[in-house]
Amino acid sequence: MIKKIKLAHKLEGIIKAPGDKSISHRAALLNSIANGVANITNFCEGDDETAMIGCLKQLGADISEIPNNDKNSPAYKIRGNGLNGLSEPKDILYAGNSGTAMRLISGLLAGQDFYSVISGDNSLRSRPMKRITTPLTMMGADIYGRSNASYAPLTFNPKRLNSIEYDMPIASAQLKSCLLIASLYASGETLLNQPEESRDHTEKMLSAMGAPINKKDLAIKIKPGELSSINVKIPSDTSGSAFWIVAACCHPNAQLKITNVGMNPTRIGVIEVLQSMGANLKFENESIQGGEPVADIIASTSQLEGVEISGEIIPRVVDELPILALAACFAKGTTTIKNAEELRVKESDRISTTVDILSKLMANINETPDGMVIKGTGKLIGNEIESHGDHRIAMTGGIAGLLSQGETYISNSDHAEVSYPRFWKTLDTIIS
Ligand code: S3P
Repeated sequence: MIKKIKLAHKLEGIIKAPGDKSISHRAALLNSIANGVANITNFCEGDDETAMIGCLKQLGADISEIPNNDKNSPAYKIRGNGLNGLSEPKDILYAGNSGTAMRLISGLLAGQDFYSVISGDNSLRSRPMKRITTPLTMMGADIYGRSNASYAPLTFNPKRLNSIEYDMPIASAQLKSCLLIASLYASGETLLNQPEESRDHTEKMLSAMGAPINKKDLAIKIKPGELSSINVKIPSDTSGSAFWIVAACCHPNAQLKITNVGMNPTRIGVIEVLQSMGANLKFENESIQGGEPVADIIASTSQLEGVEISGEIIPRVVDELPILALAACFAKGTTTIKNAEELRVKESDRISTTVDILSKLMANINETPDGMVIKGTGKLIGNEIESHGDHRIAMTGGIAGLLSQGETYISNSDHAEVSYPRFWKTLDTIIS
């Protein structure tokens, strides 16, 4: 689909973003191997979650949709049969476009007493899997994949796992979560040392489910043990909300309220960066929902200033760097993004795809090996741009269209559905 977007004269409205993608993945997977029955509400309705639910069902998980008036926030009932309650899938598991589904499910498959294979779409089959297969193999897993277990399809033979002490070479929540899940099936205590903090939803949920897990600074210790099912009411996705926050901050006549946004400190790097740029943000209805902080965010027209985004904040802002690059185009001065080489192995090479779409809109932006340098000009000019098969690039292009002179055309815009199916409908409702 080609989406046409015109420069908006005013942006206003109240938005409810979909349920958090990362928490949805964890709530589905962990409850499928817990004991008891759990209800998961405000589940993210994106394609990535559909892939996760599909894989878990193929593994014999008892998951049913709870009838619900809100088609946009599916709810699921999951009946868990404990850590060893899954069974051999009769076909290849298909993780679609989802790196989180593939890497978290791989942690689960490594310690099962049955054979399994997991694969995904073109993009996912070219994303690095060695980062998980190396430590899983150290734990005793028997894994095959292309280029010496570097790329999916990945095949798992039945194996008993041992515990390890592992210094993670990258601050990746997918790697951490994969290993934490595998550790539930290992023979003793596993110790993971993170180089920097990344999103901590897995640790929080495992702890709430009664797992013997301990965290001290960047070190996490976990022992094998059964989990108890928990109900999860999922907050609205912080990363999905960031698109609207940036739209309002960069537009000269805007105020948008985004409700019930997840405010977990390991996720709100985007809010910290925008505040350091001078963003006009207000917070209301702050509360704790199912162990996760949430708030309504009111974002309004702002006078942004360029900043450097680098170091420990990068893993906490990794999914929001494309939309922050757009914010930088409307900031006074230069914004430099450094230490973000991980962007090159996302759903697309997000350094080059962000630079591609924003340069086509006449931004002053340059690619560096580990980031970008953006000189704010306060003006973009509409053009034809491409989503590059990446949901976050499609949505960044959509917000850029609202802020660019004339008309912007985004081809393959439907990729937004990977994490945010109602994105384009919502965008149409805030233009006045
Ligand atoms: C995710 C972790 C991040 C993020 C992805 C979701 C998760 O990936 O980019 O969208 O839910 O664990 P990495 O762990 O590869 O940084």
